[in-house]
Amino acid sequence: MRLVLFQPDIPQNAGTILRLAACVGVGVDIIEPCGFVWSEPRLRRAGMDYLEFATVARHSSWEAFLAARSPGRLALLTTRGATPLPDARFENDDHLVLGRESAGVPDALHTAADLAVRVPMVPGARSLNVAVTAGMVLAEALRQTAGWPAAPA
Ligand SMILES: C[S@@+](CC[C@H](N)C(=O)[O-])C[C@H]1O[C@@H](n2cnc3c(N)ncnc32)[C@H](O)[C@@H]1O
Repeated sequence: MRLVLFQPDIPQNAGTILRLAACVGVGVDIIEPCGFVWSEPRLRRAGMDYLEFATVARHSSWEAFLAARSPGRLALLTTRGATPLPDARFENDDHLVLGRESAGVPDALHTAADLAVRVPMVPGARSLNVAVTAGMVLAEALRQTAGWPAAPA
């Protein structure tokens, strides 16, 4: 299981997701360009000292990611997803792809995705925070695939 961040804009969100990934032992792919520099203090503050434990691969473009990525499906997390989260069935090598805060993802990513998952919301709600989405969907995906870290002995 991996999280894929497409051109993240907001360093606090990226830092929160990197901390999440480090804590549950999930790798992260970052598709650049980002809306911030990698040394940005707000990224470091949100990720705290967990950042050094995060397994991160940075890619210069979507095409570079496709060329380098590990096997597994692309599960796009999108408000336009055809599959509501309660109906989604995850596999242990899925890549959970999250869009930019400002603009989601381009149509090419919708086309490339093997499945598109939507977290259901009440009528009128436009979208969730990207880091909240990552936490909700990753929790369900790890539950289904028995991917949670083992309890300490
Ligand atoms: C703030 S939203 C992007 C909103 C953007 N204006 C758009 O039209 O897609 C940032 C990302 O969070 C994820 N996201 C937010 N709400 C979601 C939901 N209800 N279901 C699935 N993904 C969601 C998606 O990956 C989205 O690209």
